[in-house]
Amino acid sequence: MWVDVITLFPQMVESIAAYGVTGRAIEKDLLTLKTWNPRDFTTDNYQSVDDRPYGGGPGMVMQVEPLRRCIRAVREQAVPHVKVIYLSPQGKRLDQTLLRQRAGGEGFVLVAGRYEGIDERFVELEIDEEWSIGDYVLSGGELAAMVVIDAIARLQPGALGHGESAQQDSFMDGLLDYPHYTRPDEIDGLAVPQVLLSGDHARINRWRHQQALGRTAIRRPDLLSNRGMTEHERALLEEFMRVHDKQGRFQICGHLMTEEDNHE
Ligand code: ADE
Repeated sequence: MWVDVITLFPQMVESIAAYGVTGRAIEKDLLTLKTWNPRDFTTDNYQSVDDRPYGGGPGMVMQVEPLRRCIRAVREQAVPHVKVIYLSPQGKRLDQTLLRQRAGGEGFVLVAGRYEGIDERFVELEIDEEWSIGDYVLSGGELAAMVVIDAIARLQPGALGHGESAQQDSFMDGLLDYPHYTRPDEIDGLAVPQVLLSGDHARINRWRHQQALGRTAIRRPDLLSNRGMTEHERALLEEFMRVHDKQGRFQICGHLMTEEDNHE
């Protein structure tokens, strides 16, 4: 799929092409990233893209015309009726469900604002959707655009290595992740849960599923109530709650309880 980004800082957005999963997805042509700078669509000597706000107040506002000429150029090379998404704190809150819906499409255009924002008439005339990545204010939409691109890139088939994708396909959908451990198997008296050393993949999957449920119930009960649980999951969670405290730690103190104990 392709993502075009309208931004005053194209190099900032393009930097994700150099790293990790996004870099690999672009290299493998699973994702095509293209940036467009409204400054290249100005007509004055100063290449100005912003002006003072009507009504007064601090900061500057991005003007309609450079953005409009820019989006026209983008539309000329895009599919008809391409979706244009403006990143702003006023937008719909981004989540994995929304990303998954869009990840299978042909592509879309992201508009990253700077300064106090964009002249509202550009939003009315050219923007189809507004997305927010959270209830806080960034200095511009670039980081938000990069968040969207990263999350979309890893959903492209083939973007993640074999090992990385397994977890996504599992029952963990809509839950927080389970805890991860690597060598050594003990640090400062903290042992890796015994079950993970058992080689018994059914038990390991059960433990991970239970941990994901437990963590979600403790840290993000809102996610769990929206998602719902199967009967089997309800039983797993009840068992988790019996042996863990409110922070998700084992309740029995002074004894390094292992997952073996937990299943006995
Ligand atoms: N631009 C500035 N803040 C933002 C946010 N929280 N989400 C998306 N775009 C933004």
